[in-house]
Formats: sequence, structure tokens, C-alpha cells
Amino acid sequence: MKILILGSGGREHAIGKKLLEDDHSIHLYFYPGNGGTSIIGKNIENHHTVLDLGFFAKKNAIDITIVGSEIFLLEGVVDIFQNLELKIVGPHYLAARLEGDRIFAKSFMKKYGIRTPKYNIFYCYEKAMHFLKKNTNSVAIKTNGIAAGKGVILAHNSYEYEKALKNMMIEKKFGKSGDQIIIEKFLKGKEASIISFFNGKNIIPFLSAKDYKKIGENEKGLNTGGMGSIVPNPYMTNSIWIDFKKNILEPTLKGLIIEKLTFFGFLYFGLMITEDKVYLLEYNTRIGDPEAQTLFPLMKSNFLKIIQSSFQDKEIYIDWKKLCSCCVVLSSRGYPEKYESGKIISGLNSLKEPFYVAGAKKKQEKWITSSGRVLNIVGIGNTLKEARKKAYDQVKKIKFENLYFRKDIGL
Ligand code: GLY
Repeated sequence: MKILILGSGGREHAIGKKLLEDDHSIHLYFYPGNGGTSIIGKNIENHHTVLDLGFFAKKNAIDITIVGSEIFLLEGVVDIFQNLELKIVGPHYLAARLEGDRIFAKSFMKKYGIRTPKYNIFYCYEKAMHFLKKNTNSVAIKTNGIAAGKGVILAHNSYEYEKALKNMMIEKKFGKSGDQIIIEKFLKGKEASIISFFNGKNIIPFLSAKDYKKIGENEKGLNTGGMGSIVPNPYMTNSIWIDFKKNILEPTLKGLIIEKLTFFGFLYFGLMITEDKVYLLEYNTRIGDPEAQTLFPLMKSNFLKIIQSSFQDKEIYIDWKKLCSCCVVLSSRGYPEKYESGKIISGLNSLKEPFYVAGAKKKQEKWITSSGRVLNIVGIGNTLKEARKKAYDQVKKIKFENLYFRKDIGL
């Protein structure tokens, strides 16, 4: 069995390690991969377009491709692979717009009665500013395109409204993504990530997760790709799960089927839990990073079998270990802005599983940093407290110049 995984982060390393843990005989290929994936499989190079990747997969008889990063989805990789009669896990382009086109996603939510914060759409700066002049509440201003995860600004007063709108619509800091914007009611609460597997007929939710998006402790500072994650999310109580299924998951499934947006792959619900209700902030059409790094170590079921069952139109049941996990992301100081790479990492060889490489590579037998997010260290325990302690105990083993990590993951 040959499996190709698309992406270059800790998430892709985690998918690969889980597949190998379940079945050592699998051959893994990654594009573009990282220093960690090159140890458990082969990183393939020099494929500039998704069509080139399709030809590679065809020529090398790849059995299944799993898409990690949304970049490939929004380039239509699934449509191209399916046209080449290749099996691939991920949404086709039209369904990937649920992540890549926020106005499309919001319209879908509205049409199918999926609970989401109130919003308005604007195509011109003056009209958006006019709307905000009558507003006194906090808002989330979002670009239509996802702008590499950066196109969301929370604004709490008229100075911040104007700054955000100018940024997006006049100065075009997020490029064409900001040609159209959404102004959404800001909700105060706790965020949750519910990642699920969609087999085209049913949406099977994973355990609940929580990611820590900001660079600073107590969720301060700039947004990042994720500085840590925990599973389960303590705010996903039984009553919130019931509310989520009734008001978000079930109408989503209905809408996907009616609109013919079905696919085999991950569907990620980005939620906000207020005092008594849960709201859908966004969909992602892939597994989260670093949520994947906390979910896969707790998955008891054979992941490849889940994928194969969906291709064979069989029912899916996912079994989980009754444990907790906590992932701490080690990064290069300065990330998500300017940072230096090429720093020698010590201690990596003494780490216990599970841990994942995000941005590090081996050079002349030494591990060096190669990106903003460098390593993902995971602790597993009977309680979140125990998982957290195990993760931070392992973190102490790692040293490199300008190492930075948040100390409050799982607190
Ligand atoms: N952890 C958030 C994301 O993957 O988008």
C-alpha cells in the first residue's frame, strides 16, 4: 500500500506516524514534507502544480492520497486526482469553498439554518464604514478569502473599525482576499474545534479539541498557525454536544447532500461556545494543525481502515482511547513575524513518542530549525493535568537558540 500525504507540517507527520503505527508495511510519500516525514517516508520534490502531482501519483501507483493542507484543496487537487482515477481523501473544489470562500460558507449556513453569528457582507469601503458608524459593539471583520489564515481582525471601537477596514479594503494588506468582507457580530466565549470525518453520507465527529491560536499567553498578541492544542475540550459539555449536533452538524449534513457537496474527507467545525449556546464561526475542509497532533495519538481505530471503509461505502465507527492529550508547539522566537532559522536543535533524539516535526531538518547528522513552528511535543494522560505535565516535562529536553513556546497550554 502506497500513500501520499500532501502538506509540510506536524499534522502531516502525525497522519504518517498514525498510519505506520497501525500497519508497518505501508509506504509513505510526502509532498513537500519536512525533516520528520523524510525519516518515516520519502519526501518527493519538484512537483510545481497539482497536475504534476497527479502524474507522479499515477506513475508511481499511489493507492491513496490524503490532503493535509488547504492550499492543495483550493488548487483543485481532488478534482484533478479524481479525473486521473486516483483515490484521494479531501473535498473537491466546490466543497473546499466552504473553507476558502467565507461568503459562500456564510450563505450556506444561512440557507440551511446553521447557527452562526449575525453578519453583513460589504463590497466597498464607504458602505462598510457607514454601517460601522452606527455600530457600538465589538465585531469580527473577515476577508472573503482565507488569506493564509490571517484575514480576521477583531475590532472593538471606531478607531479599530477604521484601521481594520483600511487594512483590508484600501491598503489591500491581504491582497484580493479583502475585495469583499464580512462584518460579523463578535461573540464572547470559548472556542472549540470539532473535527470530523465525512464519508459522503454521514459526518462522524472526532473527540472535541481546542487550539491556542495566539502567540502570547492568555490568548494575547498575533494570530499564529496554532501554538498548542488539547483533547478533549473541557467546554464541550454533554448539553453543548447535543446543541452542536442539532443546530450545526445535522443541518450541515442536510445542506451538503442537497447541494451535492459530498466528499470523503475531513470537515472541521470552528465553534464558539457562549454561556448557553454553540455557534459555528467557520468550516475548514481538512484536519486542524495542531489538533491532529493531539487527536491521532488517541485514535484506537485503524485510520487506514476508516478511509478504506468510506471508499467501499461501508459504515464508519471510530473508537478512541479514554485519555487526554496536550500538544505544545515549540517555535522560533519572532514567529509569526520575522524569525531566524538554521539553529541547531539538541535533545530531539531523547524525546519519547508522541512528538512531531513541523519545521526542522537534518543537516550533516544535526537537527536544525527550518521554520517558525519547529516541533510539536505531546503528553498523554488520564487527566488533562497529567497530559500537560508530561508534555512540558518533555519540552525541557529540547534546546535551541531563540526557542519560544507558550507555558499555558492546557491550563
Ligand atoms: N488549528 C487551526 C487550523 O488548523 O486552522
